[in-house]
Amino acid sequence: MDAIFLVKNGKSEIAFERKEMKVLEPSDDEVGVEVEAFGLNFADVMARLGLYKDCPPLPTIIGYEAVGKVIKIGKNIGHVKIGDRVIAFTRFGGYAQYVLTQGVACVKIADDYDIGKALALATQYCTAYYACCVATNVLPGERVLVQAAAGGVGTALVQLCKWKGAIVYGTAGSPKKLEYLKAQGVDFPINYNEKSIDSAIKEKMDVVFDSLGGSDFKKGWNLLERGGRLVGYGAATQTDSKNIFGTLKLGVGFGIYHPVQLLMESKALIGVNMLRIADYKPNTLKYCMEEVVKLAESGIIDPVVGGIYSIDKLNEAHNDLESRKSVGKLGVKW
Ligand SMILES: NC(=O)c1ccc[n+]([C@@H]2O[C@H](COP(=O)([O-])OP(=O)(O)OC[C@H]3O[C@@H](n4cnc5c(N)ncnc54)[C@H](OP(=O)(O)O)[C@@H]3O)[C@@H](O)[C@H]2O)c1
Repeated sequence: MDAIFLVKNGKSEIAFERKEMKVLEPSDDEVGVEVEAFGLNFADVMARLGLYKDCPPLPTIIGYEAVGKVIKIGKNIGHVKIGDRVIAFTRFGGYAQYVLTQGVACVKIADDYDIGKALALATQYCTAYYACCVATNVLPGERVLVQAAAGGVGTALVQLCKWKGAIVYGTAGSPKKLEYLKAQGVDFPINYNEKSIDSAIKEKMDVVFDSLGGSDFKKGWNLLERGGRLVGYGAATQTDSKNIFGTLKLGVGFGIYHPVQLLMESKALIGVNMLRIADYKPNTLKYCMEEVVKLAESGIIDPVVGGIYSIDKLNEAHNDLESRKSVGKLGVKW
């Protein structure tokens, strides 16, 4: 079986090589999956550019999720069996024809469930579910701001916050994406390339979801109501930092926060990293995966698929994600 190895940092055209991979046997708690398709995440672009600290040393196989059939199974696994179609959260290793992953990171999915939607449910919807339903527990009537709301996690947050009965403010960077946000039910779509959020939003927010980082994180903090929660789960603007000064500016831009201030104002700063959740709280990850599958199967959430590319078009898929052309989930089919 083959995998796509990340061999060099840089442009997608020089970064990847298709090579044969080792097919390892699962340990007692693991599952081996023959992959139909794997998903792309913005973190893959960061890893390719050499900006992602958690990425293993090169050459390596990146990729957070795959959909396929269980072909090997550890002896402690009871919730899935050989032949089941599953969504597997892979924690790297996803760009491959075979993935080996922890059993708790696999959930069964119907044979006829759309492949792109299934890929979206793994990293992007689990991150959003954890942020919206576990870490902040958004309440009906709360005002929430979702930054970069037309992206994969952004779309998932919008759908989950609407399901929770929140009033959703969502940002995006082009008129086309604003139309998309309106269609997704965002109550107040904002083009952040035309107007900064601090001038566009007059109300205070109960919850802010920030994936941009730097000074955007601080702007979110300044909009937060007493009792509010600010979730930081990404730093997409890091890709705009061309040198060490840019990186320093990004770090300083986040701002400085004192615990006494949080206590006095009853505000929470929450960091979310699903890799850490997978490593330290695997049952929480399993819970999130099972909940998003239930919500998808009952039609409460409906992932949007931006494109499923063939394996020879992986570069194109990466370039579309990096250049912000895409809306919703991108996947690659073997
Ligand atoms: N912490 C975690 O566990 C976790 C898990 C998953 C994802 N994430 C993070 O969440 C964010 C969204 O991930 P995703 O997979 O949903 O990505 P995605 O679908 O590519 O969406 C990202 C969006 O961010 C916006 N953006 C703003 N500044 C950008 C920049 N400098 N370069 C590129 N895009 C920029 C773009 O929308 P506009 O064109 O509208 O600006 C883009 O569509 C990323 O920062 C990712 O690293 C974190």
